[in-house]
Amino acid sequence: MVISEISNEVMKEAYHYPVMYREVLELLDVGKRKVVVDCTTGIGSHSYKLLEVMDKEGFLIGIDRDQHSLNVAKARLEPFKGRFSLVRDNFANLDKILSDLDIDKADVFLFDLGISTYQLSDSARGFSFLKEGPLDMRMDRDSFLSAYDLVNNLSEGELGNIFKKFGEERHSRRVARFLVEARKSKPISTTNQLRDLIIQAIPGKARGGRINPATRIFQALRIAVNRELESIEVALSCAISRLASGGRIGVISFHSLEDRIVKHFYRDYALKNILKIINKKPLTPTEKERGENSPSRSAKLRVAEKI
Ligand SMILES: C[S@@+](CC[C@H](N)C(=O)[O-])C[C@H]1O[C@@H](n2cnc3c(N)ncnc32)[C@H](O)[C@@H]1O
Repeated sequence: MVISEISNEVMKEAYHYPVMYREVLELLDVGKRKVVVDCTTGIGSHSYKLLEVMDKEGFLIGIDRDQHSLNVAKARLEPFKGRFSLVRDNFANLDKILSDLDIDKADVFLFDLGISTYQLSDSARGFSFLKEGPLDMRMDRDSFLSAYDLVNNLSEGELGNIFKKFGEERHSRRVARFLVEARKSKPISTTNQLRDLIIQAIPGKARGGRINPATRIFQALRIAVNRELESIEVALSCAISRLASGGRIGVISFHSLEDRIVKHFYRDYALKNILKIINKKPLTPTEKERGENSPSRSAKLRVAEKI
């Protein structure tokens, strides 16, 4: 995909508002850093801001599983040519990624978890229940399993577990039962089909809230398809061991499952005197940012320093 194919609206938001970037630059003390790893480069909005303020001798490694996003990042980061390297991989492979680049320690690791507005707004990726698209949800389009495979092949019990564990959905069993019943007549193959079935499955009273009833089920499927939580755990422990003394790690998370993992990791490493927690309470976007960039609303930033 080339930049001209991306809607102006999406690019405008993504260009101007990498989530909490001022807080990221300040708390990670980016200005004086030499080796910075952006573990979720996406279309490069944070990477751009990082490179703007980094030491001119510094080097940024940008990682993402999504080749399409990296293509955009590569074009956008052109002004910093020679000062960065982009790697298409799962950040769970951080150890190998850094070894292949001959990097032992880094001064900064940044994780901006989940999916981007760019990915969400592309209906062909199947992440959004607001747009008709195939049931896909793979961040890495070469990976084997899609949301279609899970929804149409897992047992009712397995689906229910996914909805409960990764979506914290109260009606997980009921939704699973509805889907298994519906797929007997024909496969569930589009985002709209899935959304409508979820809405039918969730009892009327529970549908009235501020959040669309499909939100939690779509989140759960996306996490399962991309094995998101396992990757975060592996990557965090690797990043902490590869962080130079005095270096900082920052993680922006967007839901409680991610935030809980980060909080526990930091706490465990702080108890072992490996990390010093910089902000005890997670930072959240200012009201101004929340107003200007709605996807930032649920963001939480936690920063820690290697002792
Ligand atoms: C919220 S977006 C990041 C946006 C980015 N900070 C920017 O400024 O454009 C999250 C990105 O992380 C990527 N991602 C999520 N999990 C990943 C993983 N395990 N390995 C590598 N990339 C991952 C997604 O493909 C997505 O592009």
